[in-house]
Amino acid sequence: MNVDRNELVESLGGETAVANMSHEQRADALEDFQIDKLNAEVAARKKSGKFPTVAELEARVTTRTWRLGSGKLFRPGDQMGSFEGAGNGPQVKLLPKLPKNPTFYDYFEHRIAPGTHLLQSAALAKGRGESEEIILACLLHDIGGSLMKADHGYWGASLIEPYVSERVTFAVRYHQALRFFPDPEVGYEYPVGYYESFGIDYVPPAHIQDAHNYARNHKWYGLARSVTINDLYAFNPNINPDINDFRDIIDKHFRHPADGLGYDNSPAAHMWRSMANPDAPL
Ligand SMILES: [Fe+2]
Ligand SMILES: [Fe+2]
Repeated sequence: MNVDRNELVESLGGETAVANMSHEQRADALEDFQIDKLNAEVAARKKSGKFPTVAELEARVTTRTWRLGSGKLFRPGDQMGSFEGAGNGPQVKLLPKLPKNPTFYDYFEHRIAPGTHLLQSAALAKGRGESEEIILACLLHDIGGSLMKADHGYWGASLIEPYVSERVTFAVRYHQALRFFPDPEVGYEYPVGYYESFGIDYVPPAHIQDAHNYARNHKWYGLARSVTINDLYAFNPNINPDINDFRDIIDKHFRHPADGLGYDNSPAAHMWRSMANPDAPL
């Protein structure tokens, strides 16, 4: 997506305001601006009914130098997984080394940040008075996408399973399937953005339908559904959360291994190591 510099600066309150922002704040603002623009584009197209079909999306596959399902850490330039583009944007950047015995905070800062979508979703859940476990699930719900966007709910659940409660893992795993299925009783609608990313005539495959049916009849359905309800795709300029806003909840509900994430021989360790060192040739 093209970014109009003047429009971006204007939206942030002018040149002086931008000059006073830190590098991280600017990176955040750019991401937010892109989400905002994306939402506006999608809304406009929905009005005019111009969404791609599944076949049209498939025809775009060979126009890219990377695959849509690849994790954010493994793709060039595009951090938002936008739907257009030939992948000829900026090269991947050199990542800082993680400290010894890396914690979730280290991964968040150096591999996931700015993570605006996660922080805003968690902040929304907090503002609604959700339980600490739901707030944590919202904060973690899309981290799988750093490693692998395809089936990101399952990747995310596998990453966190050894360190959080079964309920938090359940919520993260099943939010992926539940996002495709409206639940009018709790005010959850099919995301308009999915018409753009999956195609206007997309039908979720059998395993996603099965996962939805399973979760819907599960005693923890409400947890996973809450993640989808707080899954904030529209940028909210009134919410500017920081990872430190959730430190109490993380410290209470995320059991950090003494040897660090990736180095504790857990079933998820190799996945964390792949995020620590995505440049490993094998
Ligand atoms: Fe998600
Ligand atoms: Fe999300």
